[in-house]
Amino acid sequence: MKRWMKYIRPYLPYFILGPLCMIVEVIGEVVMPKLLSVMIKRGEANPSILTPGFALTIMGIMIVTALIMMAGGIGGAYFGAKASVNFAADLRKDLYTKVQSFSFAEIDRFSTGSLVTRLTNDVTQLQNFVNMLLRMALRSPGIMICALIMAIFTRPSLSVVLAVSMPCMLLAIFFIIRKGFSRFSRVQTKIDALNNTVQENITNVRVVKSFVREDFETVKFQNTNSDLKQTAMGAMRVMIFMQPINTFFMYATTIAVLWIGGKSVVIGGMNVSDLTFFVNCVTQILSSLMMITMLLMTSSRALASAKRICEVLDTNSVLSDENATQKQKAVTKGEIEFKNVSFRYYKENPEEVLSDISFKIPAGATVGIIGSTGCGKTSLISLIPRLYDADEGEVLVDGVNVKEYSLENLREGIGVVLQKNTLFSGTIAENLRWGDDEATDEEVSRVAEQAQADKFVRSFPQGYETMLDQGGTNVSGGQKQRLCIARTLLKKPKIIILDDSTSAVDTATEAQIRRAFREELTASTKIIIAQRIGSVKDADIIFVMNGGRITGMGTHSELLESNAEYKEIFESQTDPKSAEER
Ligand SMILES: Nc1ncnc2c1ncn2[C@@H]1O[C@H](COP(=O)(O)OP(=O)(O)OP(=O)(O)O)[C@@H](O)[C@H]1O
Ligand SMILES: [Mg+2]
Repeated sequence: MKRWMKYIRPYLPYFILGPLCMIVEVIGEVVMPKLLSVMIKRGEANPSILTPGFALTIMGIMIVTALIMMAGGIGGAYFGAKASVNFAADLRKDLYTKVQSFSFAEIDRFSTGSLVTRLTNDVTQLQNFVNMLLRMALRSPGIMICALIMAIFTRPSLSVVLAVSMPCMLLAIFFIIRKGFSRFSRVQTKIDALNNTVQENITNVRVVKSFVREDFETVKFQNTNSDLKQTAMGAMRVMIFMQPINTFFMYATTIAVLWIGGKSVVIGGMNVSDLTFFVNCVTQILSSLMMITMLLMTSSRALASAKRICEVLDTNSVLSDENATQKQKAVTKGEIEFKNVSFRYYKENPEEVLSDISFKIPAGATVGIIGSTGCGKTSLISLIPRLYDADEGEVLVDGVNVKEYSLENLREGIGVVLQKNTLFSGTIAENLRWGDDEATDEEVSRVAEQAQADKFVRSFPQGYETMLDQGGTNVSGGQKQRLCIARTLLKKPKIIILDDSTSAVDTATEAQIRRAFREELTASTKIIIAQRIGSVKDADIIFVMNGGRITGMGTHSELLESNAEYKEIFESQTDPKSAEER
């Protein structure tokens, strides 16, 4: 409850005013039948008082009551909506912030589809519940209790009927709701699966089409969709009994009351107005009870959603900087050191992705990393901005363990152009300003020049204002890579990491990027991962990697002398015969 109070407190007036307005409605609902009963009773006792004046007075009172009730109803609905919508918006905001703090591993654990469902559908379930709760929580029990009291006062002996029917009805409903809860949890899981499928398909629609997999994907979607349908039907199948059970008890009780009460009227123990009033009370009691059960049904669904929301809110990212001791420190030099670092993605798997890596890179140096695919290059550089944490050993930046920095300061100082990179929908300038949202137009075009992007951007009719599609699909692969590099350069990081970021750029343009890096980014440490020897051969030092280990370190000429693997890669890329074979 403490958790939810955070979302209730700022809107407490709405949370209070909503139910209060509903109470006005409740009072009206009880007063109305009472007025009717008064009229009948007076008329029964003395038909001569039933003058138009008397009837008009009663009618006038009834109309005023109805207007007051209406105002209460409108107020209740308005404040209820305001409270629940704000409650949901704040909750979504917190969930989103939480998800932003997640590491890759945590996002993988939930799956992106499931996180989307939790942020949207689950929050909406909760919002609907809060709305309903505010409107019904006081209203229905209020009406029920008032009507119950009046019924007992009117005819205590007839109330025995209610004493039997109400517990029976509650018991039946309790069983339904208990069965419904687990089924609703399952429905949410199926919505996760559906979201996952849709998201994967639409994000990768180009691949789907190029492999002509539309039919296969449609079948896959249909399966997930029908799975969701079946599960939802399963839940509904239980809930479907709710209405008939309510109606059954309502009519059974009314018949019993009319039967017993009618006998009493015949033998003269009870008058017609009391019986009419009593039947009215019974209808109100049972329909309120029905509303309460509806509320319980929504609560069963909301509970399942609340549980899933709490799972996200309770996940504390393993990559947190809570215990960091030097949160104020920023990366100022760009010196990097690995001390006996080992790393695995799956902690239960003994096989290491990186084993016992040690090296030191002085500030401002250019380092090349080369090695076969899957040897651990991306994994190695991921440890520097703490995208993952090392399992053993230490990663130091400027002589301080990366865990001691605040994540923000650490990542602010390190610019990584990831291997699997993406751009976002928006203009080119907006995308580049991810690096620095206050950069001037001159600064933007300067980094674009360094990344050899300025020329092609200016060749577009709208230049820097050209709109990019989601993922940057309306520029070529090489153009996208250059924009990603420019975006990172705008951060002016002390450490720049290019993970295979020029693989789609032609060699002449790549050479120009290298020259710009060498001449203009002298103060930054540069790490360049590449498949082509040409991309790294001018580096101050080159690491050769194999099977998660660094098997050679040196300059291009040193490695050619001392490292057979490097020599082999070099020859395969320069020897015309091997090139042909390739
Ligand atoms: N997110 C991940 N979860 C689990 N295993 C991973 C993950 N990323 C990579 N791996 C595994 O870790 C190993 C090293 O991968 P890594 O991406 O570091 O290689 P790489 O040298 O960058 O390869 P490439 O040249 O193809 O980019 C591989 O065996 C890969 O299957
Ligand atoms: Mg890689």
